Amino acid sequence: MLVENHVSLQPYNTFGIVAKALHLARIRSEDDVLQLLADPQWAASPKFVLGGGSNIVLTGDVKPLVLKVEILGKRLVQETDKAWIVEAGAGEPWHELVVWTLAQGWPGMENMALIPGTVGGAPVQNIGAYGLELQDRFESLDAIHLFTGQRFTLDAAQCGFGYRDSVFKHAPSVGTQDSGGYPIGLGLAGQALITRVRFSLPKRWQPELGYLDLQKKMHDTGNRQPTPHTILDWVCQIRRAKLPDPAVVGNAGSFFKNPTVSPEQCADIIARDPKLVYYELPNGTLKLAAGWMVDACGWKGKSIGQAAVYDKQALVLINRGAGTNTPGATGGEVMTLARAIQTSVYERFGILLEPEPVVV
Ligand code: EPU
Repeated sequence: MLVENHVSLQPYNTFGIVAKALHLARIRSEDDVLQLLADPQWAASPKFVLGGGSNIVLTGDVKPLVLKVEILGKRLVQETDKAWIVEAGAGEPWHELVVWTLAQGWPGMENMALIPGTVGGAPVQNIGAYGLELQDRFESLDAIHLFTGQRFTLDAAQCGFGYRDSVFKHAPSVGTQDSGGYPIGLGLAGQALITRVRFSLPKRWQPELGYLDLQKKMHDTGNRQPTPHTILDWVCQIRRAKLPDPAVVGNAGSFFKNPTVSPEQCADIIARDPKLVYYELPNGTLKLAAGWMVDACGWKGKSIGQAAVYDKQALVLINRGAGTNTPGATGGEVMTLARAIQTSVYERFGILLEPEPVVV
């Protein structure tokens, strides 16, 4: 397999940041990974797995060997009384999988339409939108350990899904190494390449319409019993109205996670900011709308260099220069803007926002 040198990563990150991979290998099958790991030149090199590049901020050229996952294929692997089990290659574009499953008559992922990125990236941050998260439809995944070459399969519990979180975002526990000196433990960040993901789409389909924007669509259209296709259309319309299309304006979706606080902390903030937007979670804690807080601090439309806050959704940072003749925002500018936002939100609300994308 050919390892390419000095490859531009600008087309491979949705922020459209200019940066290069010093070395890049296109992974089209499990065998490609195993071959690479068996190659003395690359076996021990640090590696960076790149999916759709929709959740990363590149702050310079990438020195580790970039493994660009391009494993394709979509198929029904099993049909039970209760569900269709569908498998997709990690390199498949996420939205195309959602549309394809619906066209086959297997609904259940329509609320997650138009999320940028690939199938392999979806479990890493447990993507979610409009009342559904990946974990609600997840069956299992196959991956290859990048140090040992071992293939393994994880079910949902083993993936440790949380809000925009999974075992793939956590470093292995410090101090735990196997006899070969490789880190072991719960975290798999930087340790694994996801090759295939399986989804369970329940035959007894129930629409998920709890999200306020979808309630509004039902009200406005008078359609109280939307089909899965209608929900897909609604979600696409809502997203297009609020979120920038990465093909046109560089961005990585929400830049910060919605923070969770105790009822006391929330009451404290409301006493000062009665308009605070928040949601109660089943465990009694409260999730605050980070977008509202950033907006309340006056950030919409503000910029540092070519990095800016999107004027229709303050949680989204954009690259004003992507797609133009200028080099556009640097990762440094994006991070400077992010830190300035963190500081002002912290000073006003006492909450430190946590970035969602991975900073490379
Ligand atoms: N809001 C403002 N001003 C803003 C932005 C938001 O007042 O500039 C308010 C909204 O009016 C609303 C609340 O904040 O009352 C929440 O906003 P929104 O419904 O747009 O959702 P969000 O919490 O900002 C989350 C996800 C999105 C996902 C949407 C829909 C996170 C970090 N983001 O955004 O996911 O599409 O809900 O489910 O959880 C992503 O992760 O990249 C992403 C786009």
